[in-house]
Amino acid sequence: MTSLHAETDENLIDSPNTFLTDVLKGLSEVPKTLPSKYFYDAEGARLFTKISRLDAYYPTRTENKILSDHIKSISEAIGPNKALIEYGSGALDKVRVLLSALQNPAALVAIDISREQLRIATKILASDFPSLPVYPMAADFTGPIKVPKMPKTVEGKVAFFPGSTIGNFAPPEDAKLLTAIAKTVGPKGKVLIGFDLKKDSTRLIKAYDDPQGVTAAFNKNILSRINRELNANFIPSLFDHVVRYNSTAGRIEMHLESQIEQSVNVTGNIFHFTPKETVHTENSYKYTIDEFTVLANHAGLSREAVWSDPDQLFAVILLTAKVDER
Ligand code: AVI
Repeated sequence: MTSLHAETDENLIDSPNTFLTDVLKGLSEVPKTLPSKYFYDAEGARLFTKISRLDAYYPTRTENKILSDHIKSISEAIGPNKALIEYGSGALDKVRVLLSALQNPAALVAIDISREQLRIATKILASDFPSLPVYPMAADFTGPIKVPKMPKTVEGKVAFFPGSTIGNFAPPEDAKLLTAIAKTVGPKGKVLIGFDLKKDSTRLIKAYDDPQGVTAAFNKNILSRINRELNANFIPSLFDHVVRYNSTAGRIEMHLESQIEQSVNVTGNIFHFTPKETVHTENSYKYTIDEFTVLANHAGLSREAVWSDPDQLFAVILLTAKVDER
């Protein structure tokens, strides 16, 4: 017996029309851009799993270690009978650690953009936690989210947003997303977020330009995806994976740099590239704990507790949604 509810389907971005519109818009900008959310087709998700296991890419294993080392105090701070809402639930690995430690978790809402992964992961999780009501939601969480009606046993909502995915949102989208999350959990609801800390730029660059070239393949896969889904003719090997640390903005940037002068056809639209011209594909913001606290405050969330690793590479913060006193 499991309590796996029917999947709800909201604002998915994988409709070819939205994808095409976003790609044409990004490639028409100066400098050219592509939204990083389009990295994650099946091949992109596979490559990201590979990245998360690389020696050079410290965030995933560091966050996992923080969660497991401090799970007792994290679950005490969250409290009993909570509904967890995981943003970008992926394989649902991290939330298992929480679910196993929380006192009477009352429900899990798993939100993910990849319907296939969501279906498989929630089915497995529901059979491992048979009495837990599980609600899969195939959705792009950057759009509005309508959480399903919760069982009566739920005494408050807790959003779980691990993996430093918040760092992929530039201002003001970062604050907008946090504000939307605060609204979803409601006044006094809680938000548990993992974010990457500022550090030596050499270490940061290596994490995004690994010696095995997995991140380069991940970056170039966005071009292959455009070819596969939008009838385009990019030659990914004619672009170089370029990583920079922008210390003014406090972010890692990933770009694809054209090796030569070339033209690309995307569904009948021609885009010209000069030699060394770049397409900006991703930002990954890094914060100090104080900077992140200020960002959260702007979104109506106040800091309750922070956990980190001994090397101060990564942090997990627990926030509470303020009560609107107007
Ligand atoms: C998903 N996100 C938090 C990753 C990051 O670190 O910004 C995506 C990534 N891009 C390159 N490597 C990993």
